[in-house]
Amino acid sequence: MRIGVFGCGYVGLVSGVCFAHMNHQVICADVSAEKIATLKTGGLPIWEQGLQELLEDVIDRGKISFTTDMAHTIQNSDILLIAVGTPSLPDGTANLSYVWSVVEAIAEYTDHHKLIVVKSTVPVGTSDAIKTYLDEYGLKDKIIDVVHNPEFLRQGNAVHDFLHPDRIVIGYEQDESRRIMNELYEEFPSPIQFCNRKSAELIKYAANGFLAMKISYINMLARLSDQLGADIEQVARGIGGDRRIGPSFLKAGIGYGGSCFPKDTKALISLARSVESELPLIEATVDINETQPRYLFHKLEEQMQHFEGKQIALLGLTYKALTDDIREAPSLEISKRLMEKGAHVKAYDPLIRDYPIPEVSLQPDVISCVTDSDAAIILTDWEEFKRLDIPDLVARMNNPLIVDGRNLFSPDQMRKWAEEIDLAYVSVGRPIIQSGLNSLTCSP
Ligand code: UGA
Repeated sequence: MRIGVFGCGYVGLVSGVCFAHMNHQVICADVSAEKIATLKTGGLPIWEQGLQELLEDVIDRGKISFTTDMAHTIQNSDILLIAVGTPSLPDGTANLSYVWSVVEAIAEYTDHHKLIVVKSTVPVGTSDAIKTYLDEYGLKDKIIDVVHNPEFLRQGNAVHDFLHPDRIVIGYEQDESRRIMNELYEEFPSPIQFCNRKSAELIKYAANGFLAMKISYINMLARLSDQLGADIEQVARGIGGDRRIGPSFLKAGIGYGGSCFPKDTKALISLARSVESELPLIEATVDINETQPRYLFHKLEEQMQHFEGKQIALLGLTYKALTDDIREAPSLEISKRLMEKGAHVKAYDPLIRDYPIPEVSLQPDVISCVTDSDAAIILTDWEEFKRLDIPDLVARMNNPLIVDGRNLFSPDQMRKWAEEIDLAYVSVGRPIIQSGLNSLTCSP
């Protein structure tokens, strides 16, 4: 099949490259000439595990091309996949301007029959509105259907998730589009759920809202565990063992970030408000998440007493491991707060070479980051941090305080170390571990 993909971000690129990998003929279009130039030379404007190898292969096999030319993309494709961003506007609603500019181009340049597939996360009713717009433009006979086909890709695992989805959701109206979508996904090992467009659009928001809610639920209980002296990791294991609840997305920490959960939960709330409805569970989810970095900061503050002139080492800047994305990353709020209080902030992240807060001094490795620091704060669950040699690390620090925003270390192991060396270990929803009060005092 000939597929045109609009938007070379995570969703568009992964979809385009994976469809090309499955032997479809793909054209990827983007308004950014810089991105397209990079892609044409086989480079990637984003970091995504496994994507580089697939990209090189599909370029070699002539299965994919890249362009800024919308007309060329539209006129040489039978399926048009819209995968542009829908970022939040200040009031939380989704900004659909990129989606509409693609739709306007489709209206202008469509010359033969096409199926439009909306992959961008859009408010309920958007795909219907696109269909109405194109019909009224005079394309009723040429646009087979506007289908909503949400994606459930996790950044970092997006290639795997694309090729092995738990399920494929397709919101459609015409039987012909159902047939085409069946053919498009025929080699995928996953069940396909066909439904109406509005349900498909709501499924995407509802899935992200539910996952975000699980995270906020466990973070809420982590705060309670701190008060009661329970261990949130044990609690999560105990409840996740119930198959009705399941163990995933119950990892307590510094809260969720990224371009999806924060944006989609707020868009869901504003969607409900637009029809005079309320979503108190999602509102509480957002509230817990927004206060979670502050909660961790408060725990650090209790240990530090003051930050004036202190050196603080941040380990991890991205919103999660296996991505170079810092959108809505908790590191942004933590570093701003530290600097407001007079601390000097150094940071190390395996993938970040450029950070929007220039006062944060980027370091080439963990050791240079923690050396002479008064506290080290783990903010991202990178594998390399899980293997850190804690005694070696604290030996290089000015003050042996580790604040673990991702609960990467086992309390038992930390307790053993705390018996041998000066160490204070603060995590989320688990008792503080410390060698002795004297070791905790920070130099004034
Ligand atoms: C999320 C969803 O998982 C995807 O299904 C969806 O397609 C995507 O959003 C999207 O809408 O495009 P993603 O944002 O890449 O994917 O990342 P996740 O792996 O879901 O993690 C999101 C955030 O939650 C991260 O900050 C992560 O550290 C945090 N998290 C996750 C926790 O704090 N605890 C957990 O137990 C799980």
